[in-house]
Amino acid sequence: MRLQNITPSNTFSTSSVPSGNRAIVYNSNGDPARVLSAVSFPELSSPPPDTLNIRLLLAPINPADINVIEGIYPAKPHPDVSLSQSKDLLVFVGGNEGLGEVMEIGDGVAGLQKGDWVVLTKAQTGTWSSAKNVASSDVLKVPRQGLSEVQAATITVNPPTAYNMLHDFAQLAEGDWMIQNGANSAVGQAVIQIAAAKGYKTINFIRDREDVESLKSHLELLGATHVVTYDELFDKSFRAKVKTWTGGKDIRLGLNCVSGKTTTLMARLLGDSAHLVSYGAMSKEPLSLPTSLFIFKNLTCHGFWQTRWYSEKSLEERQELFDTLTALMRDGKLRDPGHEILTIGRMESDDSASERIRELVAQLGRGMYGKKVLLRIEETA
Ligand SMILES: NC(=O)c1ccc[n+]([C@@H]2O[C@H](COP(=O)([O-])OP(=O)(O)OC[C@H]3O[C@@H](n4cnc5c(N)ncnc54)[C@H](OP(=O)(O)O)[C@@H]3O)[C@@H](O)[C@H]2O)c1
Repeated sequence: MRLQNITPSNTFSTSSVPSGNRAIVYNSNGDPARVLSAVSFPELSSPPPDTLNIRLLLAPINPADINVIEGIYPAKPHPDVSLSQSKDLLVFVGGNEGLGEVMEIGDGVAGLQKGDWVVLTKAQTGTWSSAKNVASSDVLKVPRQGLSEVQAATITVNPPTAYNMLHDFAQLAEGDWMIQNGANSAVGQAVIQIAAAKGYKTINFIRDREDVESLKSHLELLGATHVVTYDELFDKSFRAKVKTWTGGKDIRLGLNCVSGKTTTLMARLLGDSAHLVSYGAMSKEPLSLPTSLFIFKNLTCHGFWQTRWYSEKSLEERQELFDTLTALMRDGKLRDPGHEILTIGRMESDDSASERIRELVAQLGRGMYGKKVLLRIEETA
């Protein structure tokens, strides 16, 4: 990927581009609060054969999207061909995940019609946009019935990650215990709900904050058995408290979203022959574990990456997981993550939209935002 070190304002005109659509883009890696820009672009032309024009209804801002823009994520984005001015001036639309509505269908596309909901199966195609032309082979139809827009827009990354980590490493049975940190993350919330639906008991760690009791109540409402702050992990009496909760039963699965010192302490709570699965490093600290856990407790550590799972599994397996998750959602067992929607309105200027998105990513970068943010980018007037 070749990126030129030029500022967005040199690249995109905010006045001379014909109106129609809008996207949040960047043309060089770096701090998203600096490199992101809103840019208007014309109506899409009719879709070529085997492609669709979709209107993007909602697209989340996930932590990995930020890392992709920073240039530190292993999965690389695909440049947007129509927005890139030349091969030396590549433009990337932010976002990996999102919900689209089919607007227009090219020749040769089967099984989809106008108005259908779809999600993208090809990673890193750029979803922070009002509309997009996509290959029909790169989308999966999502049932409209029983799913909210937010559930559908966030179905490809966090819920499958939660589901697979709960099932692929330790064979848990109803009544078994698991433990996780980053429990208020969107993944953590999905873990709590899927575990509760399976009858697994969960111990969930979160960072302390002013309104910690209301966050605890929210996670308990989702089905968390216990919610505790990391501070409690440092308390010597905490291990005994956990033993009382579990009745001495071994905790067989730990999920790590944050790494760092608190994960070392959390790992000490795991029982014999347990599995510790790392899927995030939100603290930006390394993970260090006592050797004794491997020798005397037969601990096994794993990493999990949903992108790898998708690349290794067949379409049928992907569809099966997708059907399982949509069924949980329709049954009310897997709810929206706590969220807010940032709407970039039809009448807003690109400058104002750029400013708002940069402010938002700066705020997200400071942490403790407390909600998943989704973008709704309207067509321009
Ligand atoms: N491996 C995979 O396949 C996969 C798939 C999905 C997600 N992920 C990763 O999982 C993590 C969570 O993703 P998400 O979409 O669920 O995130 P999210 O909803 O945006 O939540 C972010 C979480 O990170 C916590 N956090 C942020 N900074 C922290 C710090 N310095 N120390 C401790 N905790 C911190 C937040 O806690 P506060 O509320 O206290 O800030 C919150 O719980 C990310 O690292 C993401 O990249 C990995």
